[in-house]
Formats: sequence, structure tokens, C-alpha cells
Amino acid sequence: MAPMCGIAGYIGPRKAVDVVFDQLKRLEYRGYDSAGIAYLNGDSTIHVLKRAGKLTELGKLLEDGSPDSGLAIAHSRWATHGAPTDLNAHPHFDQFGDIALIHNGIIENYLEVKAELMAEGHVFRSETDTEVAAHLIGREHASGLTLEESVRRAVRRLRGAFAFVVLSRREPEKFVAARNASPLIVGLGEGESMVASDVPALLPYTRKVVIIEDDRVAMLTRDGVVVTDLEGRPAPYEPMTIDWDVEAAEKGGYEHFMLKEIHEQPLVVRQCLAGRLDEAGRVRLEQVFSDHVWQEIDRVNIIACGTAYHAGLLGKYLLEMMLRLPTDVFYSSEFRYGDPLLSDRSLAVFISQSGETADSLAALRLCKSRRIRTLGIVNVVGSSIARECDRVLFTQAGPEISVASTKAYVAQSLVLQLLALYIAQVREMPGIRVGELVQDLREFESRMDRCLILEPQVQELAERFVGAPLVFFLGRNADAHVAREAALKLKEVAYVPTQESPAGELKHGPLALIEPGTLAVFGATDPEVREKLASNIREVQARGGFVLAVTTDDDTSLDGVSEAVIKVPAGRSSYLNALLSVVPLQMFAYHVARLRGCEIDQPRNLAKSVTVE
Ligand code: M6R
Repeated sequence: MAPMCGIAGYIGPRKAVDVVFDQLKRLEYRGYDSAGIAYLNGDSTIHVLKRAGKLTELGKLLEDGSPDSGLAIAHSRWATHGAPTDLNAHPHFDQFGDIALIHNGIIENYLEVKAELMAEGHVFRSETDTEVAAHLIGREHASGLTLEESVRRAVRRLRGAFAFVVLSRREPEKFVAARNASPLIVGLGEGESMVASDVPALLPYTRKVVIIEDDRVAMLTRDGVVVTDLEGRPAPYEPMTIDWDVEAAEKGGYEHFMLKEIHEQPLVVRQCLAGRLDEAGRVRLEQVFSDHVWQEIDRVNIIACGTAYHAGLLGKYLLEMMLRLPTDVFYSSEFRYGDPLLSDRSLAVFISQSGETADSLAALRLCKSRRIRTLGIVNVVGSSIARECDRVLFTQAGPEISVASTKAYVAQSLVLQLLALYIAQVREMPGIRVGELVQDLREFESRMDRCLILEPQVQELAERFVGAPLVFFLGRNADAHVAREAALKLKEVAYVPTQESPAGELKHGPLALIEPGTLAVFGATDPEVREKLASNIREVQARGGFVLAVTTDDDTSLDGVSEAVIKVPAGRSSYLNALLSVVPLQMFAYHVARLRGCEIDQPRNLAKSVTVE
């Protein structure tokens, strides 16, 4: 599986291998852990070069000069499942060596398709879902279908979020690309055509592009592109001219990676849930502990830093409220030096985007030395924490480049929700409506999408409150945990002092800081405690503070009560409602930072991965 990898492909008069290698370089900023190229050079054979590691490793295979070829496809892989090895690197072949395929995204039903193909005698070499797609297309192609029709058939059969690029040694004058939810852009030149997962790879060659839509198949030749739907009917498309410079293109046209990553969150939700919710409305998690372990665990310790710690707080809320499973959350740095109480029946959960955070890694090693079971919730496959934990659930959020974590937090929190539901299933807990919560998860992507249209409103609020000298972030229950994350975002990227606490704690001290001009942001998505929150709101206003409330769109109780209200689309689960409210608050931090002229993607004094104590 490989969400958000780099895809490149070229057909035309230039040396195709050089072009696609250069295109991969232009996608390098996104991060990857292996890379490969497939090309044709007129001898009816598909040639493949691939290497784990950086592009320089792949480049060594081209040191004696690149081969003559007018058609090549290339891929940089950011592994999520299956280690970053030469073998798992793309391209992958079909059973007969007729086609080579590169792939971005996740194929949800690959195990089912793989079993079917194995029963027919297909032999698989890698651990990837990608190879299954290659075999499926290869089988259709071997039956006499054209490459594009074979791809259409395969896409109709596969579920998930993916993009493919495929070449065939039997049809050397074309290559084919298909999209279902993962980005794919065709570039049109003079006597040459190309494809990439992202605009920067195309810019040196052409500015005329076609954005391929979902459920479309594109056939590229030197003369241009033919786009069809999955039934083979011509699909209209509109070429457009890109006038971004390279830097803007790397950010997908957004001014900063942070904003790009905020906007990627609907896709992240999809990628994170892909293959983990089954047709029967249950959660499916592969490679976790066996059922008896989940029955035995009587305590969970969640260990993490920063944003990942905040996701851990949400996890505690969920595991205790839903499963009544005692859970503690520790800062890794405190845990490792705190002589923690650890029992044989406990589970230590390490949450980390990078998988390299020094304190978390040291805490993990401490648990291992005490023979405690460990589970990682990690974004970067192949990272130290991912390798050293007994089991790992990958967040599948794709590379996060901005120092301020946004999409990783959402993915971590979703994985915790999946985990809680999974444990509930194993323990057959009565009273937990797994099916209903799974349905809520399924709808989360579209709710997240609807959240993004709040941006103009959030931007106006940022303009209104940019001068606030101090911003409070308050809430109750899950909203209180999201409030801490929202506060971290504002302080980290906009350098605005914040005060975060559960709303009920206000009058036990922090209220003393409220004065005219102070802004208090209230997370108010939980109807159970909204009335209590309304009293806290009045406490702030009575002292001259302004209130910005974030609630759900089915609530009118705070209209006219707060100075400003943001409403996120309501769902059934209070956990997911609270999680959704982080999106406008991430945007709020971003826009305040922008107005204050801050270095948003690389805030002063901070690093993306804290690999020292
Ligand atoms: O890579 P990790 O998730 O282990 O990193 C933990 C923190 O350093 C990280 O979340 C940090 O707090 C972010 N900059 C917050 O935006």
C-alpha cells in the first residue's frame, strides 16, 4: 500500500528514462523510501530498475548512461505496508511479464482478488497490493484485450483509492493511466505526453495539463491523450494552463504546506480508513494482536509527544468512555524518567508521526526491556518506532512536511477510534453500536470536506482577532482535548500566547488572566455539556473577553450568545464531532500566522522530527 507516492510517466522523442528520473527528483520534497523505473527500448522486453533508499541509489544504476527509450514510467514509494525493500518497490509485473505497473493509493479488496488469482496459478513476489493490480490487468491483457480495456476492467473490479500507470510490451506506442481518488495529472507537449501525481514533475516539460478525474482512464501516446470513463465512453476534459512557479507547484498551489495538508484531510480520512471497514459494518484491522491478547489487557498506557500526545488524550477519552478500559496518557519524556508502574497485562501504545521521536523511542525501549506489549500508531513505515513495536497500525496519512502537524493528528485520532471499535468487537461488548459508529466513520470524509468550505469565514475571524494578546482554548470532554491541540497550533505557528484548560477549571485560576480583548475559543460540539459551557462563556464575557464558539450545525443555542460561532457538520459520535472541530481551528492558526507574517511551515526554534532529547 502506498498513499501519496510519486508517479511519473513519459512518451515522446526525449530520452524517457532521463525524463522520468528528473520527474521523480521534482517530487522528492514529498518524501519516499524507494524508487523504480520501467522502460521499453524496442526489444519487446520491459526493463525495470528499482532500489530501496534515495534516488541516488537508483541513479547509480544509470551511471553508465541512460538507455535509449521513448517510453518510461517511474515511481517513488512512501511505504505504508510492506517494508521499503527493492522487492516491494514499484514497478511491479503481471504474471506473464507483459505489463509493468506503478501505483499510488490503497486497494482495499486486494486480498480477495489475490486469492482468486492464486487459485488460477498466479505467483506473487512482493508483499504489495500493487502487484495484485498488475496481475489482474495482465490477465485481462493476456486474453486479448487492449491495454486500456484491460485497465478499465481491472479498475471496475478493484475498490479503494488509487491511481495506476501501466505500460505493455505488446503495445509499445502508448501507456495508460487510471484514477480513482488519488491525484493524477496528464501533461501535453509537442509530440510528447506525460503523466505525474503532482504538477511540479510536469513544469519543466509543459504547462498544458489535464487533471484526470475519478473513474477515468487516460491513454497516452506521442500525439496526445484519450480519456474515457470505465465503460470506455469518451469523457470530456478541459486542458488548462498552469502558471505556478515550481515552489507554488510543490505546495499544490497553496501558499504553504500547512494549508495544503489541512486541505488534504478528506483524502487522509479516506486513506486511513481504506480497507479497515468491511461490508458488514465492522472494523477490520490486520496484523494486530490475537483475540486472547485483547481479552487479557486490563490497562492501556499511551505514550507520545506534542500533537501525538493530544491524539492520545482523545484515545483515553474513547477507551475509558466506550470500553471502560483504564487508560493513562504520558508525555514520553516524563514516562521514560518517571519509573512508571507497568503490569504484565498492560498495553503500551506509542503514537508518533515520524516514528523517530527520541523520547518516544526511549520510552518504547524501556517498555520492551520490561517485556510489556507494545503497539505503535505511526505514519512513517520503516521508522524506528514502527520497526521496534510488537505491532503497528499505520496512520496512512502520507508524508507530512509542515512542522505543525495537522493531517497526522486526524489520522492518529481515527486509528484510535478504529482500535476502540476493534477491541469492542473482540470483547463482544453489548451496548456498543459498532455498526452505527462505522457508518459515522464512513461519512467522516464528506463531513471533513464540508468543513473546508468554512475557510473564508475562518479567515475573516482571523482578521478580526489577530490582535488578541492571549487566546484561551476551552472545552469539556473530547472538546477539551481538541482545545489543547488547537492551542498548540496557534502558539506554534503564530507565536500567540495561549491558555488551554477544561472549561470547568476556568474559575479555579485561569479566569484571572481574562481581560478586555482576550479571546476565548470554546469547543462546544458536545450537547451533553453545552449548558455548562454557556455558563463558562458568560464568565469570560463578564470580564470583557470575546468568545468564539465552535459547535455543530444542528445547534443554535450559542447563536447570539457568543461573539462568533463556527459550525461543523454534525454526526452521531461526539468523538468525531469534536475531532472535526479541529479543522477550522487549524485554519484559524494558519490564517493568524499568515497575517502576522510568520514562517508558517518552519516555525522558529522547532524541527519536524525531534530526534534528540
Ligand atoms: O513525530 P512525532 O509525532 O513523534 O512528533 C511529536 C511532536 O514532536 C509533534 O507532534 C510536534 O508537537 C508537532 N510540531 C506539533 O505540531
